[in-house]
Amino acid sequence: MAALTRVSGSVGLISLLNPPVNALSAAVRQGIVDTVRRAVSDPQVKSVVICGQNGVFCGGADIKEFGGHMSGPPLVPIFNTIEAADKPVVAAIEGSALGGGLELALACHYRITQSKARLGLPEVSLGLLPAAGGTQRLPRLIGVPAALDLITTGRHLTGAEALKLGIVDQVTDQNTVEAAVKFALSIVGQSLESRRISTLPCPCPADIDAFFEGVMQRVKKSAHGAIAPVACVQAVQAAATLPFTQGMQREQELMATLFGSGQARALQYCFFSQRVVSKWSSPSGSRWDTSKPKPVTKVGVIGLGTMGRGITVALALAGLSVVAVETQQQQMMAAQHAVSGMLERTARRRGVSLVGDQIRYSVELEAVADVELVIEAVFEDMALKEKLFKQLSALCKADTLLCSNTSSLDIDHLASQTHSPQLVVGMHFFAPAHVMKLLEVVYGPRSAPQAVATAMELGKRMGKVSVAVGNCSGFVGNRMLMPYVEEASFLVEEGASPEIVDRALEEFGFPMGVFRMSDLSGLDVGWKVRKARGLVEPGQMSRVRQGRRYSPLGDLLCEQGRFGQKTGRGWYLYDSAGSREAQPDPWLQSFLEEYRARQGLVSRRIDSQEVLERCLYALINEGFNILQEGIAAGPEDIDMIYVFGYGFPRHRGGPMFYASQVGLAQVLQRLEHYQQLHPDIPHLRPSSLLRRLVSSGSPRIQRWREIIRMPHSSL
Ligand code: COA
Repeated sequence: MAALTRVSGSVGLISLLNPPVNALSAAVRQGIVDTVRRAVSDPQVKSVVICGQNGVFCGGADIKEFGGHMSGPPLVPIFNTIEAADKPVVAAIEGSALGGGLELALACHYRITQSKARLGLPEVSLGLLPAAGGTQRLPRLIGVPAALDLITTGRHLTGAEALKLGIVDQVTDQNTVEAAVKFALSIVGQSLESRRISTLPCPCPADIDAFFEGVMQRVKKSAHGAIAPVACVQAVQAAATLPFTQGMQREQELMATLFGSGQARALQYCFFSQRVVSKWSSPSGSRWDTSKPKPVTKVGVIGLGTMGRGITVALALAGLSVVAVETQQQQMMAAQHAVSGMLERTARRRGVSLVGDQIRYSVELEAVADVELVIEAVFEDMALKEKLFKQLSALCKADTLLCSNTSSLDIDHLASQTHSPQLVVGMHFFAPAHVMKLLEVVYGPRSAPQAVATAMELGKRMGKVSVAVGNCSGFVGNRMLMPYVEEASFLVEEGASPEIVDRALEEFGFPMGVFRMSDLSGLDVGWKVRKARGLVEPGQMSRVRQGRRYSPLGDLLCEQGRFGQKTGRGWYLYDSAGSREAQPDPWLQSFLEEYRARQGLVSRRIDSQEVLERCLYALINEGFNILQEGIAAGPEDIDMIYVFGYGFPRHRGGPMFYASQVGLAQVLQRLEHYQQLHPDIPHLRPSSLLRRLVSSGSPRIQRWREIIRMPHSSL
């Protein structure tokens, strides 16, 4: 798993051989031990270059090994041996040097990298820390603040950025291995004393205690309960305050706590799930990703409201030609101005040059006649969309894909308005569309696999996590959200305040509780949806509608003009319209008291456990129904939708993984308990799939698909 050859007479070239990313499996680690020993003891070898096969240096530790019994030589002594070698060792970095890959490079005496290569210590995103010396060597090399930034965020750098920070010694656009060999020849015989990073002092900010206190506060706040970022700070603090050997001990202790944690398991599950959903498969298990996507270079966007603008920006940033259509001249001018601003800001933030000249604006629908794919983003109104799809079907090329950005409307119905229903799919983006990572690709019973593949591929090019889902009201994300939001309102009727509910959810790890989130998105949005469903009865307080429990609280607030942040009042009070600082509203408290009195409801104390169980288990239960119906192919699809689109804490793995961690029998038992107390709430009735899984012995989440085995596929 690692090969040693002698090149240019005296350079020992060690190549890591473990495709696709040369992960440091037990065999690779053993390979490094053997080849380094041979290179160091071979008198004909005067210097050493370490590289990776197939243009990738090393993707780090083999994450697949983490779940099982670890064997083979550990990394720390291997890296210490490399650093202590009396022959110069040069890392030749192509492709990626991530995690253990970068730690290996840091143990070498010199680093040469391709300018486009990606370098970083992403362990934190897997619930871990760089535990092969990364937290101790990197701060010694580039200073504490820069190292903290990289280690606590896990962000990747390009080779060019790494040079600026002082992580690498040289960047090349030529053949990296050849450059490294040439360099290795040139440094034979030079002293290595200053090249052994572990022996260097750690450059620290002046008031180190105050510095770390501030960093810790910031990191804890943004971690939302994740423990790895906090441990990363502690490990770097050890580098700043302890000698290398003791710092290494501290790194190991912290790693031991993280390694066996549920959070690390959840985050590693997310890593693999993200890759599983990109290989979209049908609920019956047959894979569709063999269907080749159609090449797309030019895309039409219809409707330049908030969503259309974000989609246009995301397409332009992905390098596609865009024809942006808004039939109202004034709206079009405003949109053009807004899109330019968004592009400028995003380009600046990403440090890329400005794009935008590939966007053509028009007020004529006919402008999209020659595009390969259209994304419709007009108002959420079925009659309007029906008309538009009929028009598009008549004017576009026969093989143009017609996609709708609807968040809930029936894709199959839209498809039926066109000549080629097989070319119609949903592309449900999330606001702001140029920022949010999630894309639900919605297929109807008639969508062609190639149409789905094309939308999935386009999403990937736009940097999205694309998840293929079946067609139903609300698709996966919004359908599951409904019971979650409803439970929150029921809890407020029963005695909780919005603050109690939000605090419990935020302590769980959501960046925002359900009420703060509703205030941010606008209470009128849900009001409109409920009106369309015939649920709203103006001025009425009845708590049963359409045969089930209903909370009119949201409607009553909207009737008072309380739409949330934009009106300065909603579930909370704000200083002014548009302000973000939510404060408890005494008006709301008396309104709720009066409401409960009129409804004959006796307020009771509701604790955070009940908030979590009722809101989350209702959401999870709907997830099981979705799996049962084959709307999502597997639990990974649901989890990635919730992690990337709905702020579900990644360190909990997503709702379905969380359920598996809590224990399916426990989730079932609590749902049964609440259903007995609230028989008028249908979404607390346990899903039959949940019962089936529990009676099958609550298998590991990776085995759920086998058990689900949906007999019908929608394609
Ligand atoms: N251990 C085990 N498998 C890994 C791996 C690792 N460190 N890194 C990648 N893989 C696997 C992926 O699961 C995928 O497998 P699959 O084809 O069976 O789905 C395959 O290698 C290719 O990875 P992918 O992410 O699809 O390729 P990419 O070219 O888009 O990205 C990397 C390559 C290296 C940038 C990316 O895989 C990555 O970030 N890996 C993790 C790096 C990391 O966190 N290292 C620290 C570990 S503690």
